[in-house]
Amino acid sequence: QQFVDMEESPMTLTRFMIQEAVESLDSEHLQDMQNLMASIQMACKKISSLVSRAGISNLTGYEDSGSVNIQGEEQKKLDVLSNDVLKHALKWQGGKLGIIASEEEDEPVMVDEMASGNYIAVFDPLDGSSNIDAGIATGTIFGIFAESSSCLPSDVDGGDLDDATLSCLANTMQPGSSLVAAGYCMYSSSCMMVLTTGDGVNGFTLDPQIGEFVLTHPKITIPSRGKIYSFNEANEPAWDPVLREYISNLKTGNNQSGNAYSSRYIGSMVADVHRTLMYGGIFGYPADKKNPNGKLRLLYECAPMSFLVEQAGGMSTTGSERVLDVIPKAVHQRLPLILGSSDDVQELLDMYAAKK
Ligand code: AHG
Ligand code: MN
Ligand code: MN
Ligand code: MN
Repeated sequence: QQFVDMEESPMTLTRFMIQEAVESLDSEHLQDMQNLMASIQMACKKISSLVSRAGISNLTGYEDSGSVNIQGEEQKKLDVLSNDVLKHALKWQGGKLGIIASEEEDEPVMVDEMASGNYIAVFDPLDGSSNIDAGIATGTIFGIFAESSSCLPSDVDGGDLDDATLSCLANTMQPGSSLVAAGYCMYSSSCMMVLTTGDGVNGFTLDPQIGEFVLTHPKITIPSRGKIYSFNEANEPAWDPVLREYISNLKTGNNQSGNAYSSRYIGSMVADVHRTLMYGGIFGYPADKKNPNGKLRLLYECAPMSFLVEQAGGMSTTGSERVLDVIPKAVHQRLPLILGSSDDVQELLDMYAAKK
């Protein structure tokens, strides 16, 4: 009897997480990660579908209510919708997740009153949302912290946390070095989930034929040096003199590599970081005279992306300290960020050190 020679069944994200849990010594924790990733990937598949059909289902543009988030940004319809999709998906993750902090929520919220609370999730539900109406790449960024038990909510009314819990959370927010998992889903020419649980970085591409993320980029490592720099140069006049000299040297070839670099800037952090992971180079949103803390948010943009980049062999700095060492003082705190290939970032740090 001739068996159909089924191709080796694809290594899906779900199967990958199961395999990691089975092979790991800390299988209970990785089973928790498996449950969380099942919810997060479900949400990202839904957001991918909403983003790709935005023009068809009238989901482009701003919230009709004209709502503004705590960052002072006018919310896009898809900012709010993506946030809701994530909150609903995370109600069903096995009850280990208690609280989420999101760019689109003023304060951290309880995911589920019944949750036992072992983990805190942080999210940028839709990164690069200013690009949505032009059909340009966007993404979802997430990070998972093991919860400090001292913040178990003592009282919850309808998902809102009581003040004691909120102030406890604000006082016990953890640096990026405490992340147990981080990743992003990029909605672009392909939909890619890139993830680390602390043992390297793996990339999965959504196969629309089977509706599963399949392993396409195992063990992602960032090249030690690239030939691309990625900054919003409109802010160049306001940057510090060392950074201005460094970028000028990249343009002229007067740098350690001897090469003149090219510039690529998409304006969606997820897409710019993904390209940097794939091709190498340096990405940044540095401090400038107008924004002494830069623009990107520490908890749900800088920290998860820095964890990924370091796990891929790269570096991530504020310009004066390692991003993963910075202890947040506020949920929506901004932080200067420069990340990418280790040789590129180190060359800039050496210039700062020489000028001290
Ligand atoms: P978000 O859409 O989540 O608010 O993030 C936007 C961020 C980030 O995606 C990107 O790197 C940066 O804003 C671009 O800022 P500029 O347009 O000022 O360059
Ligand atoms: Mn925003
Ligand atoms: Mn963002
Ligand atoms: Mn966002």
